[in-house]
Amino acid sequence: MFSRIARPASHGLIRGLSTTAQANARVAVLGASGGIGQPLSLLLKNSPLISNLTLYDIAHTPGVAADLSHIETRAKVTGYLGAEQLPESLKGADVVVIPAGVPRKPGMTRDDLFTTNASIVATLTEACAKHCPEAMICIISNPVNSTIPITSEVFKKHGVYNPNHIFGVTTLDIVRANTFVAELKGLDPARVNVPVVGGHAGKTIIPLISQSTPKVEFPQDQLEALIPRIQDAGTEVVKAKAGAGSATLSMAYAGARFVFSLLDAMNGKEGVIECSFVRSEETESPYFSTPLLLGKNGIEKNLGLGKLTAFEEKLVSEAMGELKASIKKGEDFIKSRK
Ligand SMILES: NC(=O)c1ccc[n+]([C@@H]2O[C@H](COP(=O)([O-])OP(=O)(O)OC[C@H]3O[C@@H](n4cnc5c(N)ncnc54)[C@H](O)[C@@H]3O)[C@@H](O)[C@H]2O)c1
Repeated sequence: MFSRIARPASHGLIRGLSTTAQANARVAVLGASGGIGQPLSLLLKNSPLISNLTLYDIAHTPGVAADLSHIETRAKVTGYLGAEQLPESLKGADVVVIPAGVPRKPGMTRDDLFTTNASIVATLTEACAKHCPEAMICIISNPVNSTIPITSEVFKKHGVYNPNHIFGVTTLDIVRANTFVAELKGLDPARVNVPVVGGHAGKTIIPLISQSTPKVEFPQDQLEALIPRIQDAGTEVVKAKAGAGSATLSMAYAGARFVFSLLDAMNGKEGVIECSFVRSEETESPYFSTPLLLGKNGIEKNLGLGKLTAFEEKLVSEAMGELKASIKKGEDFIKSRK
């Protein structure tokens, strides 16, 4: 069950969950009672890689933790409620996943969430920098293009910055691209892998269809319809939910997939590759998502953009302005924060 969840993005093979010797990870979910937090915590609870699952939120964690704690898997689940319990929830964490914050409503962009979510992410990552500075930090809260620079600046401020440990979770873009390409080509989506680079908002989401495995080709008009569908897929869900939030179930799946890949790599599994929005030297943007080889210490190697078509190069250059502005907004927020 759930073997599909842990599929490595790199080569599209279905695999079972790893049962390596060091399967004793402590994972903390911050924002665990939310639309993403609850199903994500359920998927994490189902993993033999995790020995301790700590759930933090400003509401409802005692109930969520009590509920999940009855599931017959080994992870010990503990709930923490409210700011005074945040430090305790982070003690000894190997991985912290953060889906805390408000989601979009119809008509909103991810950047419209900045005012609320920037402070939430800054507060939570300040606690991480103090109480689990060595942990891998996986940020789901939007706008990811700004919340990753925010997290980096917070860790720098506390003198504990390690760019190889800070990840913007963009996995849902890859999951969507795999699904849509498979639908169009009549393939099994579990065996499709489309790298998605850039950022996690609108035109900064850049699927590299030319690098898909298996190799697929589309006429230009179909490609020009497919790319915006992947870029706007989040908005498709926001509209369909009509005010009740944004993607939660598919995001929980994608978040769990990313965490399992990271844990596998931390446990010594070789060849684990995921795309993620990270500190990067690959383009003129100081943060950029590209395929990353993961290892025991987080990012082992940035695999870069690879060979792009002229069309993909154009998409990358058109994303730069928005990306850099969102990054600067995040950095400036922390510089001006008391
Ligand atoms: N990276 C992605 O691909 C992606 C995809 C979908 C949604 N998101 C983002 O994920 C975030 C969460 O979405 P959701 O649908 O779960 O929202 P939600 O409103 O259902 O849940 C958010 C949770 O965060 C909690 N929270 C708020 N402030 C907090 C704080 N200071 N400390 C701890 N917890 C706090 C809330 O109590 C709530 O339980 C949003 O920012 C959304 O835009 C990201």
